[in-house]
Amino acid sequence: MNILILGSGGREHTFAWKIKQSPKCGRLYIGPGNAGTGLIGENVPLDLMSFPEIGDFVISKNIDLVIVGPEVPLALGIKDYFKQRDDIRNVPLVGPDKKGAMLESSKDFAKQFMVKYGIPTADYATFDRSQLEQGLDYLKRQNLPIVLKADGLAAGKGVVICNSLEEADKIFKEMLLESKFGKASAKVVVEEFLSGVEISVFIVTDGNTYKILPSAKDYKRIGENDSGPNTGGMGAVSPVPFADDTFMKKVEEHIIMPTINGLKTEQIDYKGFIFLGLINVNGEPMVIEYNARMGDPETQVVFPRISSDLVDMLLGCAQGTLDQIELSIDSRSACTVVMVSGGYPGSYPKGLTIKGLDTPTENLIFHAGTSSQDGHILTNGGRVLAITAFGNNLTDALDLAYDTVDQIEWKDVYYRKDIGQDLLAMVNKTVETSAE
Ligand code: AMP
Ligand code: GLY
Repeated sequence: MNILILGSGGREHTFAWKIKQSPKCGRLYIGPGNAGTGLIGENVPLDLMSFPEIGDFVISKNIDLVIVGPEVPLALGIKDYFKQRDDIRNVPLVGPDKKGAMLESSKDFAKQFMVKYGIPTADYATFDRSQLEQGLDYLKRQNLPIVLKADGLAAGKGVVICNSLEEADKIFKEMLLESKFGKASAKVVVEEFLSGVEISVFIVTDGNTYKILPSAKDYKRIGENDSGPNTGGMGAVSPVPFADDTFMKKVEEHIIMPTINGLKTEQIDYKGFIFLGLINVNGEPMVIEYNARMGDPETQVVFPRISSDLVDMLLGCAQGTLDQIELSIDSRSACTVVMVSGGYPGSYPKGLTIKGLDTPTENLIFHAGTSSQDGHILTNGGRVLAITAFGNNLTDALDLAYDTVDQIEWKDVYYRKDIGQDLLAMVNKTVETSAE
């Protein structure tokens, strides 16, 4: 089978690495890809916003399966485009249509959906520009901190947690009146603050049945101990120790099943991944957000733990035969440490030579923002590499990953040294408490 992966990050490199292991994989294309995906398949300079160009490529290369990595083409309706174009209508595509992608592209839509289907989430209200006064009045009646969210896609930057009413008023006005997050903040969701540890749970669904993939925790802040601004993700671990059978049973019964039933009732034909951004509030899972795709860098720990054939799973998803697929999971722990350009998530240089990539290792080196030139691999983004390692436990996995991180360098490289440490502290505390 000829397969096309759309995207260019660490998530897409991980997809490519795993897909290439399948005996079903023939020619593998990644559009536009990065230096890492270019080592596994053929990079093609596709514009993810140009659906006709992608459709023509699918025809010209006899593509049998398309996987859409990032959210923007999904939110813009790439699936709908495929459905309405006769020559590509029947090409299996992993990713929801525009309506399904609204679970991610409109926080107001997602909140309404959760309320309608009884899915546990924070209390909220939504306001547009014409409701400014009602909104300010609503803010006065909320407890602190107050969470303000731009309704639309804002590349992970559209959420502000306000610790005073003055701050909330100011940001609320900036969002609605001054387009703080562009069109994304034409509507603002005001949400109750939830306190707890976050966890990402992933499912793949064909709209009818679903499979639960390994859970993961990512580390969004740039600084150690979760300090400083948000990033795309600085590392991840899987599994998450507190996501035991009891917790996951609640996730399945209170969140996953009603989500799938809700999608069916709304007649949303959802064939793709659903990323549940959850928070553990005193043992009860609640939804912080939905995403209509896999997470990055969570994919770099979730997919390596899938030991069954990924192409079978992706085809089952896109063709509505997921119930016939066996999913097997490696019981070992995996972690990934993201190495970023100095300056990220602010401005940073590109084009720096990365040294040490050829050091022999059992670990997996996924490229996120790289390019290649004259045989050298250069930095080409904020998040540059994600180093994934396995271990019989989280501590071993982390030790191995950091061994490789230590071998790789470029000017002003930065990474967090505390990935997974909060979870290890939690595990140790539980052990101590139960020994008392
Ligand atoms: P989101 O884009 O909705 O995932 O929000 C980004 C981050 O903001 C989340 O990962 C949380 O850390 C935080 N956050 C969002 N909503 C809430 C909430 N209701 N309570 C506490 N933290 C939140
Ligand atoms: N790691 C968070 C995300 O992919 O949105």
